[in-house]
Amino acid sequence: MRIHETIDSLRAARSGDGRVALVPTMGNLHDGHIALMTQARGSADQVIATIFVNRLQFRPGEDFEKYPRTFAADCERLEAAGVDDLFAPREAEMYPQPQAYQIEPPPEQAGILDGEFRPGHFRGVATVVMKLFQIAQPDVALFGKKDYQQLMVIRNMAREFNLPIEIVGGETVRAADGLALSSRNGYLSAAERAEAPHLFKVLTKVIEAVRAGSRDFAALEQGAVRELQASGWMTDYVALRKKLDLQLPSAHDSGLVVLAAARLGSTRLIDNLEV
Ligand code: PAJ
Repeated sequence: MRIHETIDSLRAARSGDGRVALVPTMGNLHDGHIALMTQARGSADQVIATIFVNRLQFRPGEDFEKYPRTFAADCERLEAAGVDDLFAPREAEMYPQPQAYQIEPPPEQAGILDGEFRPGHFRGVATVVMKLFQIAQPDVALFGKKDYQQLMVIRNMAREFNLPIEIVGGETVRAADGLALSSRNGYLSAAERAEAPHLFKVLTKVIEAVRAGSRDFAALEQGAVRELQASGWMTDYVALRKKLDLQLPSAHDSGLVVLAAARLGSTRLIDNLEV
C-alpha cells in the first residue's frame, strides 16, 4: 500500500483508466470501516482510503482533540484489506488557509436530527467530502449506513452538483451483542459498554412494531425515549422518518427508517435501522 501525505502524490498515483473507489474515514479503523474497504475492493481496480480527522465537522467542545488516532494499526488493517493507496494528509495540506468556501447543505436535510444537535456538522462533512472527491476524483465512493443522514447528504450533494461519482452505501457492522461499531465506543466504561446494546434493542422493538402494523409513530418514539431514559441514557432523539429524505412520514408511507442519538455519560452514540 502506498501512503500519500500530499495531494500531488495521491494524484500521481491515481490510475488513468481503471475504476477508482474512494473510502473516506477519520481513522481508528474497525470492522465497519474494513467492510467498506472490502466492498470497494470487489467493485474497483484501485481502492483509495483516506484518513483525516476533519476539524471542520466538530463543534467547539466536541471530541476533536481526543478523537483516537491509531495510524500504525490502521495502516496494517488497510494493507490486509487490499487497499492500494492511503491518503493521510496533515491539516496544513487540506486547509492551508481557513476554508472560506464551504458547502452548505439545505437545513431541511442538514438542520434536522443530528444536524439539530450538532449545528454546522454536515457543512463540515460536505465540505471535506467535496474536497476529497476533487482530490481523488473517484468513480465510486462508499459510505456506511451507520451514518444514515451523512450518506443522504452526500448522495444529494453528488446529485445536485452533477458529480460523476456513484455513491454507494454499506450495511452497518455490529458487535455480537448488536452494538453498532464506532470509534466512539472506545470512550465507554465497562458498565456503559454493557448498557450500550440497549440502543439497538430499543430500535429493533420500534421497527418490529412498525412491521406489525403500528402507525402511531409518535407513541413508538416516545416509548423508546422513555425506555432509554429509564436506563440512564440522555436521548437527543428517536425518530421514525422516510428513508429517502428523512422527512416526517405520514401513516401510509412505507420505506421508513428509525434513527436515534443518545448519550451514555459523556459518550454520544448514534444508530438506525431500516424498517
Ligand atoms: P468515520 O466515522 O471514520 O467513518 C468512515 C466511514 O465508515 C463512514 O462512511 C461511516 O458511515 C462508516 N462506518 C462507521 N461505522 C460503521 C459501521 N459500524 N458499519 C459500517 N460502516 C461504518 O464518517 C466519517 O468518518 C466522516 O464524517 C467522513 C465521511 C470521513 C468525513 O470526514
